[in-house]
Amino acid sequence: MEKKRLYIRTFGCQMNVHDSEQLAALLAYEGYERADRPEEADLIVVNTCSIREKAAQKVYSELGRLRSLKSLKPGLRIAVGGCVAQQRGRALLVAAPHVDLVFGTHQLASVPRLLNLCGHGGAGVVETAFCDRVESLAIFAPPPHGTVSAYVTIMQGCNNFCAYCVVPYLRGREQSRSGREIIAEIRSLADLGIREVTLLGQNVNSYGVGTPEGMDFPGLIREIGAVSGIERIRFTTSHPKDLSADLMQCFREVESLCGHIHLPVQAGSNRVLARMNRGYTREGYLDKVQRLRDACPNISITSDIIVGFPGETEADFRETLDLMGKIRFDNLFSFKYSRREGTAAMKMTEPVAEEVKSERLKILQALQDEHTQERNRLSIGRVEEILVEGVSRASSRHLTGRTRGNKIVNFAGEERLIGRTVRCRITEAFLHSLRGELQLPEA
Ligand code: SAH
Ligand code: SF4
Ligand code: F3S
Repeated sequence: MEKKRLYIRTFGCQMNVHDSEQLAALLAYEGYERADRPEEADLIVVNTCSIREKAAQKVYSELGRLRSLKSLKPGLRIAVGGCVAQQRGRALLVAAPHVDLVFGTHQLASVPRLLNLCGHGGAGVVETAFCDRVESLAIFAPPPHGTVSAYVTIMQGCNNFCAYCVVPYLRGREQSRSGREIIAEIRSLADLGIREVTLLGQNVNSYGVGTPEGMDFPGLIREIGAVSGIERIRFTTSHPKDLSADLMQCFREVESLCGHIHLPVQAGSNRVLARMNRGYTREGYLDKVQRLRDACPNISITSDIIVGFPGETEADFRETLDLMGKIRFDNLFSFKYSRREGTAAMKMTEPVAEEVKSERLKILQALQDEHTQERNRLSIGRVEEILVEGVSRASSRHLTGRTRGNKIVNFAGEERLIGRTVRCRITEAFLHSLRGELQLPEA
């Protein structure tokens, strides 16, 4: 088979990262090998994100850069997939006529076939139809040699329609993968040396609807907990309204389930939460956090918050800060509200001024930095279990890995420990990482 080179540029969430891994696996059957730089490629795929206006703009600048590459190398093919492709469809071809293929979020599995249609008749190919069953969910992406951690998609799409969010429009309705298929994939990953799996879905807590096994999310976690070789299970994202007592129970029962949960709260004011259509109150959220901490005392809790949602007053914003003070998240991703086409919030009046959003974001991030430092400092003196991921970027004599709570730890150690689970005593805490000392015996 003729050798061809593939370069993939990925924007957006972990689901997009995994989609790119799956696409690379699929295109490997077509003879494509990965290129390290776009200049070396015969095919460039841009996997896009549209969650905020800025994310979508990045895609257009990337496509602008690729235009000159294409004029230097007329045989080069450019394909655009992901959420901007789903949203813009044919309009993307008008904005970027050098693009050969636009494929939607349900069309990953069709990419090899669609590529064969390109180049016939000159015009670009567009396919953004939604399917009842997304075939690509089952594509097995073999992990690169030496990696210990892998993503596993358990569901696709979202039914929640939070007022600010484009995801349900761009990824379609919720679809869960069969439990049997998921377990088989995780067993294969374990056989290939994977020690940690991260289960992916927009709303993993509602996993299981419509599957042949009828297994719910806690049931799935328990099954994965029994797969030998898998030492760590993580998942993302968990919607607070669907976080069940049974899932909390899994943190007590399933040894391999890591003590970390990403539980996006979005806002601390009930008025804003209701307008966002989140389906829980501030009190409900606080109660679930308390019960999680009862079930798993050192659990690390991370979250997402949006500032400047339409109608957010100074008092609403203070309630968000107050909630942060009560909870003290281990880490937080915070964003300025961005208007997205087609969403319910687009029609809301009382926009918050850009300067106010920026000011609120600054205040919130400064508070979170204090909380992150405080939570990280709590680890000092503790012996943590670290899954060693590789050599530290800062120094070749240091290794880097993660605690079960998903905190990065750097420590002095030999390369042969990569891929192993070791114990480290935490000696120092910074904003973005911890420093540790390897404990003997090593494992
Ligand atoms: N399914 C996940 C989140 C997906 S998007 C969940 O329900 O939590 C990731 C984060 O982007 C969201 O949690 C939210 O904080 C942020 N986000 C989504 N839409 C946004 C918008 N229009 N403006 C600003 N931030 C947004
Ligand atoms: Fe978007 Fe809400 Fe669905 Fe998350 S749960 S993807 S924020 S609509
Ligand atoms: Fe972005 Fe789509 Fe993910 S909008 S965050 S790539 S689901």
